[in-house]
Amino acid sequence: MSLLRVNNLRVVFETPYGQVKAVDGVSFEIERGEVVGLVGESGSGKSTLGLSIMKLLPPNARILSGQVIYNGVDLLRLKEDELRKIRGKEISMIFQDPMTTLNPTMRVGEHIAEALMYHYNMDKEEAWRIAKEVLESVGIPAERAMDYPHQMSGGMRQRVMIATAIALKPKLIIADEPTSALDVIVQDHILELLKDLRDRNKASIILITHDLSVTADIADRVLIMYAGRILEVGTVEHIYYHPHHPYTQGLLKSIPKLGSKSELYIIPGSPPDMTNPPSGCRFHPRCPYARGICMKEAPPLVKVEKGHLVACWLYIER
Ligand SMILES: Nc1ncnc2c1ncn2[C@@H]1O[C@H](COP(=O)(O)OP(=O)(O)OP(=O)(O)O)[C@@H](O)[C@H]1O
Ligand SMILES: [Mg+2]
Repeated sequence: MSLLRVNNLRVVFETPYGQVKAVDGVSFEIERGEVVGLVGESGSGKSTLGLSIMKLLPPNARILSGQVIYNGVDLLRLKEDELRKIRGKEISMIFQDPMTTLNPTMRVGEHIAEALMYHYNMDKEEAWRIAKEVLESVGIPAERAMDYPHQMSGGMRQRVMIATAIALKPKLIIADEPTSALDVIVQDHILELLKDLRDRNKASIILITHDLSVTADIADRVLIMYAGRILEVGTVEHIYYHPHHPYTQGLLKSIPKLGSKSELYIIPGSPPDMTNPPSGCRFHPRCPYARGICMKEAPPLVKVEKGHLVACWLYIER
């Protein structure tokens, strides 16, 4: 059984301008110890998908349909107090800006220690001992455990979040753009720590990013998301060397290449207005191969080879 299985998830936001169809029929699964990259342009619904799994959506969001089966249990059916036992301990989320999750009035060591006391019934002394230990293991000196989040740099706060995950040993980590606010050296370090977390705890990771190049050396598989739907799924090999969907091909062409003097490719057009998304395949207005059927009907996600799925009429015989 997969660790996580998302079935036909549909999530909308109610706004004064209409309903934003942020996640529209998404299904996928994650195995134990697997790292999956979730890649797509800004507004494609990546964070909404991540937040739905944790049931941490804002009040104007509505889950229209779907299941999020974690270890055989549908998280969407659980009550808030049952979810609280799962958040942090079983599934934890690392955000782009940890200031949103770290309590500004709590010392960073306390943040970790409190979580250990809540989830593992540890006494205070032991919880603090482990908190300092895990902070040191991510390169933060034990004495900085007494710092408040605002006294730390963005990269250090990110490491505090990872240290928390090391301490609580969640089985699934959803990392939402954990490196995008950081410089390249710190970025690499954070990715190394995430890999370490997978190896140490055999954790599964969903790494959310708009940058396809970030997932290349950490992910086992990549999901390509566009306008609330998954357009392509495959191993890193499939996605980087044999991309099938015109959108994936466009994303790959837009990665800057070292030493190349040619101008950077940009996918023409812009992401759709999600209150009124295009009919049929949502990518059709920007697709160089679009034809009649693409405007009328959304293509299903179909297998092109083992483990490689594509939602594009180019690959479906009719
Ligand atoms: N609270 C909200 N109320 C209304 N619309 C929202 C809300 N949050 C997100 N949206 C809309 O839902 C869609 C998906 O947003 P989401 O934040 O999931 O995208 P994303 O892929 O994470 O983008 P980014 O790369 O910029 O983080 C977008 O059209 C966005 O404007
Ligand atoms: Mg986001």
